[in-house]
Amino acid sequence: MTKLSDANFDPKAIFPDEVVTHAHVRDVELPYGAGTMALITLDNGLDHNRPNSFGSQGLAELDAALDAILQRDDVAAIGLTGKPFILAAGADITGMPRITTREQALAIARYGHYVFGKLDAGQNGGKPSFGFINGLALGGGLEVVLHCSYRTVITSAPAVAFPECFLGILPAWGGTWLLPNLIGPDRAVKVIIENALNNNRMLRGPEVAELGIADASFDGADFLERSIDWAAQVITGRIEVTRPPIDRGDAWDAAVARGRAFVENKLHGAAPAPLRALDIIAAAKTCSKAEGFAMEDEALADLMMSEEFRSGLYAFDLVQRRAKKPVGAPDTALARPVTKVGIVGAGLMASQLALLFARRLLVPVVMTDLDDERVEKGLSYVRNEVDKLAARGRINADMANRLKALVTGSTDKSIYSDCSLVLEAVFEEMKVKQQVFEELEGIVSPECVLATNTSSLSVNGMASKLRHPERVVGLHFFNPVAVLPLVEVIRGERTDESSLATAFAVAKQLKKNAILVKDAPAFVVNRVLTRFMGEVTKCVDEGTPAEVADRALLSLGLPMSPFVLLQLVGPAVALHVAETLHEAFPDRFYVSPNLQRLVAAGKPGLWSWDDKGQPYIDEDTRALLEVGSQASTEEEVRDRALMAIADEVRRILDDGVVAEPQDVDLALILGAGWPFHLGGITPYLDRTGIAERATGRRFLPRGVASVPASSG
Ligand SMILES: NC(=O)c1ccc[n+]([C@@H]2O[C@H](COP(=O)([O-])OP(=O)(O)OC[C@H]3O[C@@H](n4cnc5c(N)ncnc54)[C@H](O)[C@@H]3O)[C@@H](O)[C@H]2O)c1
Repeated sequence: MTKLSDANFDPKAIFPDEVVTHAHVRDVELPYGAGTMALITLDNGLDHNRPNSFGSQGLAELDAALDAILQRDDVAAIGLTGKPFILAAGADITGMPRITTREQALAIARYGHYVFGKLDAGQNGGKPSFGFINGLALGGGLEVVLHCSYRTVITSAPAVAFPECFLGILPAWGGTWLLPNLIGPDRAVKVIIENALNNNRMLRGPEVAELGIADASFDGADFLERSIDWAAQVITGRIEVTRPPIDRGDAWDAAVARGRAFVENKLHGAAPAPLRALDIIAAAKTCSKAEGFAMEDEALADLMMSEEFRSGLYAFDLVQRRAKKPVGAPDTALARPVTKVGIVGAGLMASQLALLFARRLLVPVVMTDLDDERVEKGLSYVRNEVDKLAARGRINADMANRLKALVTGSTDKSIYSDCSLVLEAVFEEMKVKQQVFEELEGIVSPECVLATNTSSLSVNGMASKLRHPERVVGLHFFNPVAVLPLVEVIRGERTDESSLATAFAVAKQLKKNAILVKDAPAFVVNRVLTRFMGEVTKCVDEGTPAEVADRALLSLGLPMSPFVLLQLVGPAVALHVAETLHEAFPDRFYVSPNLQRLVAAGKPGLWSWDDKGQPYIDEDTRALLEVGSQASTEEEVRDRALMAIADEVRRILDDGVVAEPQDVDLALILGAGWPFHLGGITPYLDRTGIAERATGRRFLPRGVASVPASSG
């Protein structure tokens, strides 16, 4: 196939708005008498905020450029690099939802192989090729250089990765076969499988060289010149590129087995993509390049037609676009400047928040607590974390000192007098929070925004006793604060636009994704999680073995099982939220007597872990539990839990807590780490029919986050 249209479909219909990444070619006279290099620069003409990508026209341009170069006898070598800071971010993902048939998907995979294959000296008549990774290189952007004979990388490259498996597909323009053959299966499994499934971990420049993906690395503004010089030395034999031999014995199979165990442990069969990738990595031990590429073609075609990938695309779009433009956020021009921040409390959340505000806003942050000891504990947490950041090279010594100086504490709340925003993170009790806000109102200026980090209580209730309730807003962060990117911004009945705009502006400065939420018990994430945990716990109380109940949801590939989550949140916090929700909605939210017993006994959770990391219930804990004799099966537990989630999400939407199902999904992805292959949750509830069974209708129209009806 020489053109996508040969495959009987119109590429323009798939990529109608393609921002074409051009392939500019210029001749470079190489030193050391190495001859002429035809240097291709990929460039879509836009700045670094809009990375190069490969759509049909871009691929066709690269194809034409390579054809023209290969016809020239005066060219000794081919070079390929990108516009400043960016090589390429991979295939143009905007077109993918429009791929409606397996044949189209197959054609896209084959076309990529066909075009990129022209860089392979073994295929192009013997012209050596050099990929210069001058910055970001993701997916197809990394694959294009894997077809080259040699590679260099800039040490400052921020992100080099294969995110495909995270999204629900696999590197299918050569990457899955080429990478294990270049760096060995163990490292390939790490890059293609583990990094992708570990929340899309990216490699930086030095790691790209260490792993052997690049043969040399250079830093500085003259990266390209040095790479070209290096290439000339390779061509003239001054530099001999040696790569460690690859063990094609049992070690190969062991690496694949390790990958399979990793995937099983993480996903429990919930998504097919990484297993298809592992099949190809396994085959790459012996199969030819052509055979490997054919396997990639078939796997991509299958996966692109999978529901998991369609959910992945939907989730990607939510995270890339909806998260950046929160629905319902007021005009940013209304936001008030924040020049000093107060945090009330110095406990678990408060100390993490103090660090975050100082680090991102670079303004003074003051904390208070009930006694000196607690204040000191909070401050020393901040200082320790700053030291860790410095030790890891994330900040320099000057910045470490600056951050430490920015965060101070006291037991005297008058230190809040000149703050522009005060965020409370004290005990989760309405009376305590009301008192704190009343006290603050006597201290701060009339313009100061008062925010609460409550996880479940009414923002209106907290504001009710104030003279200026319009300045009260919820800023609900998630634990661990540094890891989870979500903030639920809660608008109270009286919250004014300016305070709300300030909350959104601050969330953005903190590099968090904000979602606008109505003041309703436990907002979105905790409400869904608590309803679902309540159902699973009820099954145990009725007599289902805890092991069975905790395993029931594994096949969804959630980040952790319900009782591991309970342990992370802490039984007391979970109970408190369950009680708050039970008070609001007694028919639906279950307060487990066994959970109450665990909390009363001060247990950290249900599970203990043995030496092998296997969970068990210790005798002490077992003696506390009182359970019935009505055991459910795993399937029954799963069904009940999912029906409960569907019912609750419907009610959240009907109550207007958030605008659309997309907001619930985004909240679960960013606030609870729910996976892309479920699309958050509503695409999964739709495609399994649970939504219709539980609520009488779907959440999303057919075709959104699902395989198009016309697929064949
Ligand atoms: N723990 C979580 O995972 C989590 C996640 C999101 C939100 N939250 C919310 O954050 C808030 C704090 O939770 P936490 O887990 O950090 O609790 P915590 O018990 O670790 O910290 C609360 C701190 O507030 C202090 N405090 C109490 N009354 C005070 C007052 N009047 N003035 C100054 N300090 C006072 C306490 O001494 C304590 O150090 C709660 O509203 C909670 O619901 C917690």
